[in-house]
Amino acid sequence: MSGVGNGPRAVLIGPPGSGKSTVAKALATLWDVERRDTDADIEATAGKEIAEIFVDDGEQAFRALERTAVATAVAEHVGVLSLGGGAVLAPETQALLEAYGARGGAVVFLDVSLSAAAPRVGLNNARPLLVGNPRRQWLDLMEARRPIYERLATVTVLTDKLTPNQAAREIVQAID
Ligand code: S3P
Repeated sequence: MSGVGNGPRAVLIGPPGSGKSTVAKALATLWDVERRDTDADIEATAGKEIAEIFVDDGEQAFRALERTAVATAVAEHVGVLSLGGGAVLAPETQALLEAYGARGGAVVFLDVSLSAAAPRVGLNNARPLLVGNPRRQWLDLMEARRPIYERLATVTVLTDKLTPNQAAREIVQAID
């Protein structure tokens, strides 16, 4: 039950509302390791919130910061790492996660339906890509990204009916 070299013990991917942050927290507690979240890293680097980065600098600038944050965290972090929902869109990040999975790393896709994701995300949330019609936007994001999440995943857990602790235990069973 060790990580891959110096890499994380598990990398969590999935759309907004799949429970990446809460499951990462539960998993890190089970393993007694640190957790890290690339959205938080980006906010620390930029000195402002993600919604502000989108408004001030645009999505492309955010994605550039995100690529760097993911590459840094995958290279140096040894605990549980959660990525922003759109991080897997970058070809560089896809290649990085493919290589990590190929050398035995756990890339965990937290799958979720709209009905389970919606109350977790909140319909008046501050996520920049879910403004306007959040349900429609979420479905569109998921449709475009599902093939990528599925291709990169070494483990998939459907979180709809699971508490964060239950999801974390499923992950542990699958990879330890
Ligand atoms: C995004 C998801 C967000 C955050 C940003 C963009 C996306 O993270 O990185 O708002 O493209 O799906 P969460 O998946 O944690 O909500």
